[in-house]
Amino acid sequence: MGSNPIPTAFAADDRASRRMSFSMCASDNTPSASSTNALPSEPNHSDARRRRRKALLWICLGIGLAIGGSLAVVMRSQWRSPEDEALAQLGELTPDARTILSLHDQRLLMQVAAKLYRNECTRCHGMDGQGMSGPNLTDEYYVNVQRAEDIYDIIANGRNHNAMPAWKYKLSKNEMIVLSSYVAALRGRDLKGRPRDARAVEIAPWPVFEVEEKEVEEEDDEESR
Ligand code: HEC
Repeated sequence: MGSNPIPTAFAADDRASRRMSFSMCASDNTPSASSTNALPSEPNHSDARRRRRKALLWICLGIGLAIGGSLAVVMRSQWRSPEDEALAQLGELTPDARTILSLHDQRLLMQVAAKLYRNECTRCHGMDGQGMSGPNLTDEYYVNVQRAEDIYDIIANGRNHNAMPAWKYKLSKNEMIVLSSYVAALRGRDLKGRPRDARAVEIAPWPVFEVEEKEVEEEDDEESR
């Protein structure tokens, strides 16, 4: 009985002040105290304005996030590492012996290949190609390889019912070509690793290709001029 009057008094006060602020916002001349019963449903303009401002803020935030997010996605898809750039600039390579055996002095491409090898091949052929469940790739003996271009075919299509998986579904043609070049260059390091497969045979050395004919022709042209 002693605690009731206080909240009522507060409520009455509150109502009076709300009515006042409403009559201050409203420019019409209706006497504000005309209907006490209508009070709860009276529109409160400053509340509505606050709500509108809040909604606007959220909308701005949403738009900002959407623009920022899509910008980030676009920039990410456009940004290429120097290695990826080098790979992209190759154009369409042909997986022949000349191409495969001519790429290993291109540092950036071999960095691309080393990364691919680390990600995809290490678990079966070892960090340095010394062999684990897959054959040693550093000696002169091969099971499936006779020519440099066989390396590409093995990587692309796999061997032995996928004991050596096919990578053509996962890697691009150029990626498989630089990888072939990397694998061809592992040959001759003779690392101690997986013992030689019973089926493996020693193969002929990789062919050595003369300097590109095009370059020679250009030099000749300059001399005759
Ligand atoms: C799941 C294990 C596995 C992975 C991963 C794997 N290989 Fe192999 N690889 C093998 C096996 C096993 C063989 C031997 C196939 C056979 O018995 O004919 C092989 C054979 C090869 C050969 C032929 C070797 C020879 O002596 O003829 C090459 C080259 C080769 N792999 C390269 C790669 C490269 C490059 C990658 C990475 C893109 C890779 N492999 C990933 C298991 C694997």
